[in-house]
Order: sequence, then structure tokens, then C-alpha cells
Amino acid sequence: DVAEKGGYPDFMLKEIHEQPRVIRDTLAGRLVDGHLAIDELDLSPEELNLIDRVYVIACGTSYHAGLIAKNLIEGWARIPCEVEVASEFRYRNPIITPSTLVVAVSQSGETADTLAAVRDARVKGAKVFGITNVVGSPLARESDGVIYTKANKEIAVASTKSFLGQVVSLTLLALLLAQAKGKLKTNQVRLLFHELADTAEQVEHILADTTAIDEAARACKDAKSALFVGRGMGAAISYEGALKLKEISYLHAEAYPAGEMKHGPIALIDEGFPVIAVATKSPVYDKLVSNIQEAKARGAMVVAVATEGDEDIRAHADHVIYIPKVRDAFSAITASVPLQLFARAIAVERNCDVDQPRNLAKSVTVE
Ligand code: G6P
Repeated sequence: DVAEKGGYPDFMLKEIHEQPRVIRDTLAGRLVDGHLAIDELDLSPEELNLIDRVYVIACGTSYHAGLIAKNLIEGWARIPCEVEVASEFRYRNPIITPSTLVVAVSQSGETADTLAAVRDARVKGAKVFGITNVVGSPLARESDGVIYTKANKEIAVASTKSFLGQVVSLTLLALLLAQAKGKLKTNQVRLLFHELADTAEQVEHILADTTAIDEAARACKDAKSALFVGRGMGAAISYEGALKLKEISYLHAEAYPAGEMKHGPIALIDEGFPVIAVATKSPVYDKLVSNIQEAKARGAMVVAVATEGDEDIRAHADHVIYIPKVRDAFSAITASVPLQLFARAIAVERNCDVDQPRNLAKSVTVE
């Protein structure tokens, strides 16, 4: 058992530490002579250029990778992109035409709702790309093209390294679409690719010292509930942070776009209520800081995930977890890691079974 866990106390921690390798492997061979190489998708640049609508469908953590992808696909490729949980998508009547691309994201490649949604979308004439971690899985077989996430087998029920592999794969797809649409030039794509590759080292840096994360976790461990907030990319990252925490520590958590706080969740805040804010430098940083101040004024205990060098944030937060500076587009890759470690540290403090949380399954193959 100990050998299998590579010396780590649980699989989750081992898998969190594998993430720099996952980033490198997912990107290996993807830039050839300065050009993106995702040939297995089997669509010519002309066919890619015709795509005028993207749906990302998935469940659980994979759905959160989709929320991040929406920001990139719309931001770079300027194609309207909707993200939907598969169990909803499959039972409504989404607008699908032959120029619709459906991107199905599933670690296992066997989630029942995701597969049903894929089948339905294909019948309606959509192109379907699968993003999965399992070679030869039903999703891989039933998609028109597939990108593998190269996470290798993930054992902990709560997904970490697969999620990062999904985000990196979806980032590649967004770059490919942007290039096909003529919205990014080859040299811009190359620059972004190299920055994306640099995140492997940045994640290593985060993993090397978790003191601030552990301190914040100890401060929050006895809470009854916690609120995760962010804006833009930070909002998408918050959803995954809250899911990780509730999955493995049974501490109730919810995520909100920070600007929505005053429309409900602010009523929950009283003395010592944990508010975890994704406060990395971004175009909406100042707005987010105002939201933190509103929470603080009502007694919240603020934990901020912030960009290294941002000393000002200390004035607004009780705990600051610093992460390296990256472009906002790549912030999900770096900022998700401390939130994974934060959730795990709280689960350990609460004596929970980190790898096998109650009532949850690694993959949900029945509806
Ligand atoms: C279960 C797992 C989650 C996972 C979700 C979707 O709920 O516990 O970790 O995110 O299924 O699984 P998939 O294999 O489709 O990504």
C-alpha cells in the first residue's frame, strides 16, 4: 500500500503531486515546428473554421474544466460556447446543427449521462470531440475525435490530476479553434503554448511549500460552511474549490461569482465565517478586492489565493496563499492546486477518508 502510494499518505496527495508531470505529458508532441499538432481530431482547418457554436458537456469536476474552457474558447476563438451538465443537456432540446461542436469531457469516459448526451448530439448531426483519460473508453470510441489527458490512472475518488489534464487539453483545443478562426496568429499561439508549458514548473513551485495552505486549512477546519468566491476565471476556479472541499471533508461549501455575493450568500456571513477568494491578478482584480472588503466588514475570515508580490492583499485577508504570476487564461492551472491541497488538508484534520469519501463513486455508470 505504502509503495503504491509512492510514500504519500494517500492517493489524493500523490496524484496532486503528479500534476506537473501531467501538464508536461499532455503537452508533449503538441507543438511541432512551431505549429499545434492535434491531428487525432481529424478535422481540417477549414472544417474547424466552420464551427459556429460549442457545447461543453460533462459531470462533476469535468464540468468545472468546461467552465474554464468557455472563457478560453470565447475569449480566444470568439465562438459562442455553452457549458452544461450532461444530465440536463440530454433531456432538453439543445440547438444543434452540423456546424455545432460538442466537446464531451470525462475522466473515465464511461459516465452514463455524458455518454447519453454524446449519442444524442451525434444523432442530431453535431461533431463530437471527447476529452478523456481512459484509452479505448466508450467516450473515446463514440467520439469523432479524442484528446487524451495523460493523467494515468487516478485512484482517489476526488479528481485532481485528471482535472488539470482536462484544463490543459481544453486549452489546446481553444488555441486550435482560435487559430482556425484566424483570431490568433501562429506566433501568438506559439507564445501561449510556451507559457502554458511553463505552468508545470509553477505548479512544482506551489507544491514545494504548502505552509500557508496548511495554516489556512487549520483555521477553517471547524467551520460549518464555507463560501468560495471569484470573478471571471476565478469564479470557475471557485466552483471546483468548493466541490473538492465538500466531497472529501463533508464541510458544506458553495461557490459564487463574487459580484453575486450581495444577492444572497452575504446573509450567511458572520464572525469567523470562511470566505475563500480567488484573488489572483486579473482584469477584475479590483472588483474582487471590493467584494472581499464587503465580506471582511461582516466578520468573514478571508483566505485569499493571490499572486506573488501582491502585498496589498494582506490588508484585506486573514490568510494569503501566494502562487506564481501567470496570464489570467492559465490561472485555473495554478490556482486550482492550492485549493486541492486546502480541501485535502481540511479533510485530514477532520479525520476523513480522503481517497474514499462516503457515498461517492469514482465513475457513475448508471443514471
Ligand atoms: C464522479 C466522480 C468525480 C467526477 C465525476 C465525473 O462524481 O466522483 O470525481 O468528476 O464523476 O466523472 P467523469 O469520469 O465523467 O469525469
